[in-house]
Amino acid sequence: MRVGVVGCGYWGSKHVRVLSMNPRVEQVVVIDPRSERRQDLLRAFPAAASAGTLAEALPKVDAVIIATPPSSHAELALRAVAAGKHVLVEKPMTTSVVDARRLIDAAAAAGVVLMAGHTFEYNAAVWALRDAVRNGDLGAVYYLDSARLNLGLYQSNINVVWDLAPHDISIFNHILGARPDSVSAWGGSHAHRYLEDVAYVRLGYKELDVAAQVHVSWLDPCKVRRVTVVGSRQMAVYNDMSGDEKLRIYDKGVSSSGHEPPATGEAMHDIPVTYRYGGISSPYLPVQEPLAVQDHHFTDCVASGSTPDTDGANGLAVVQVLVASDLSLRERRSVSLDEVEG
Ligand SMILES: NC(=O)c1ccc[n+]([C@@H]2O[C@H](COP(=O)([O-])OP(=O)(O)OC[C@H]3O[C@@H](n4cnc5c(N)ncnc54)[C@H](O)[C@@H]3O)[C@@H](O)[C@H]2O)c1
Repeated sequence: MRVGVVGCGYWGSKHVRVLSMNPRVEQVVVIDPRSERRQDLLRAFPAAASAGTLAEALPKVDAVIIATPPSSHAELALRAVAAGKHVLVEKPMTTSVVDARRLIDAAAAAGVVLMAGHTFEYNAAVWALRDAVRNGDLGAVYYLDSARLNLGLYQSNINVVWDLAPHDISIFNHILGARPDSVSAWGGSHAHRYLEDVAYVRLGYKELDVAAQVHVSWLDPCKVRRVTVVGSRQMAVYNDMSGDEKLRIYDKGVSSSGHEPPATGEAMHDIPVTYRYGGISSPYLPVQEPLAVQDHHFTDCVASGSTPDTDGANGLAVVQVLVASDLSLRERRSVSLDEVEG
């Protein structure tokens, strides 16, 4: 099949690389208005073709991957779908719930594949973490926590939540096999005049009685990419910055001895918990690039007509949380996902 990559900047160029090695793809088309960008990629991938606009490329492709800035995702994806092309849209799938729904409906009506580029749902460490939770290895999940911090890269028209938190939201939804009911966000604009560059977002999964906390920042001296799941039996840390042993399962825990809290005014004489310090294990993770796995899945779905694991509904679920987070930041309150159904 012939696959176009719309937007060949930092991330789109990685799609061009993995598609060039995908046996299902006979032609990669590099689509970007910047001619120097197209020339650089054509030098690196001489078998690729190129076009300056999506309109020019549409007759030459069967499917497209949209890797432009998020504000242009919906318009470009809708144009591709209207031309009968299968579409993978980078995260966040759209910048509004209305656009996400419009895109889902348009893809269904056109009978084309719509997939969200939630790369971490094609990551072996996230799969192992999901399995550890679902098999009960960690016990009952107490809480989840993630930190995605660095100095930069500032974006011009989306805040740090829209830029980085889609990863964590999709990871948490995937691990828990559920979607949050409520979102509560706090953010600060420091080096940027009006866009939040540091934020904490709390997701409530009511049915599971679990909360997940996401910390994202463009204003931190250390690069951190970490997801922690704390359970009643064990705890797990996925550290994407670790060279090896990216996932570690800690056989550690704390048990309450079941004491009632002291009555008002009564002193507490002993600490009512016991600690357990066990070993640390690191499951084997196959060496495979998540982006290549994701793009293979996309081309497999296009070839077979099957629904992707991260379909339009999966993309919408993340957009809903991002919209709820904006509302929570603006109104300084917890927002129910029902409020952003529109
Ligand atoms: N899944 C991931 O892990 C991951 C990682 C990084 C970025 N992303 C996503 O990828 C997308 C692109 O991010 P980036 O960091 O590569 O941005 P970037 O600014 O480096 O690249 C964007 C490119 O899009 C081109 N472009 C803009 N409008 C266009 C149009 N109408 N038609 C064709 N090309 C157009 C620009 O010329 C530029 O080359 C974003 O949605 C981002 O969230 C995903």
